[in-house]
Amino acid sequence: MLNELYTSDASLYEIIAGGRNFSAQISFLLNHYSKGFKKGKVKVSRSLELFAGPAWHTKEIKKHNFEAFAIDASNEMRIIACNDGLLKKKYYYISRLPNIPRIITKLSFDLAFALCYSIGYLSPLQLRKMLNHLSKIIVPGGMLFLELHDLNLLRKNLDDLKIKERIIYCQKEKSIKCVWPSAPIEWSNEEWVVQMPILIEVREGRKLVNKKNLISKEYIHLPSDFKNIAEETKLWEFRELTNFKNSFLQSKICVMEKL
Ligand SMILES: C[S@@+](CC[C@H](N)C(=O)[O-])C[C@H]1O[C@@H](n2cnc3c(N)ncnc32)[C@H](O)[C@@H]1O
Repeated sequence: MLNELYTSDASLYEIIAGGRNFSAQISFLLNHYSKGFKKGKVKVSRSLELFAGPAWHTKEIKKHNFEAFAIDASNEMRIIACNDGLLKKKYYYISRLPNIPRIITKLSFDLAFALCYSIGYLSPLQLRKMLNHLSKIIVPGGMLFLELHDLNLLRKNLDDLKIKERIIYCQKEKSIKCVWPSAPIEWSNEEWVVQMPILIEVREGRKLVNKKNLISKEYIHLPSDFKNIAEETKLWEFRELTNFKNSFLQSKICVMEKL
């Protein structure tokens, strides 16, 4: 089941997760992917955002002359993403990954990305299935960018993660507090999977008007898992990226370049 934060409470997610520097993140990825991309160049490249949510990154990459597509399992997220008119509905597909809509499988892509730890919503088997699908639609030299958890932080219950607890002040004295995880992360003994308790509190002035306790179940996929898949399948070249100080905060950024 999808976390309700991505369905009935998708508008809460939009507020909680909206404070990142999407422009800097996309610029960092595009700097790495320099081939075929030059500022101001007329060539249109094609991108695919996986687990798009509000599709902030898709809207950002559109500014760089990309024909940008998005996939997510949540119809509520699609409504939010397309609400401001910056992304047309025909570019945002509802699909539960690793399933990729047939129409997308008929296109080829220069770039794909799965950001904000979202790849953790796939089991290892599902991940391999999705990478296999992507290997057929990403062009040689094209890249899949991934934002993964840092295992060191995860082991310490994300206590050192700056955004572990955040309070967003909205208009009319409304504030939203999110603590992720709000209690010790539960590690499975059977597989690389964790359950993260999430606390969300909505206040009007000092009055608590809404309180939610949710659970996010996430598989742990490490950079070394992708390195192994790249070596085993010989379909990709794996690299871990560094020097992204002002864009992605405290995560592991990896790229699978299609061979
Ligand atoms: C953490 S949010 C990330 C959203 C966005 N990429 C961002 O940077 O904020 C995870 C998203 O993945 C979607 N999702 C979870 N499991 C999925 C699946 N199996 N297939 C497609 N989307 C999924 C959720 O609906 C949600 O929008």
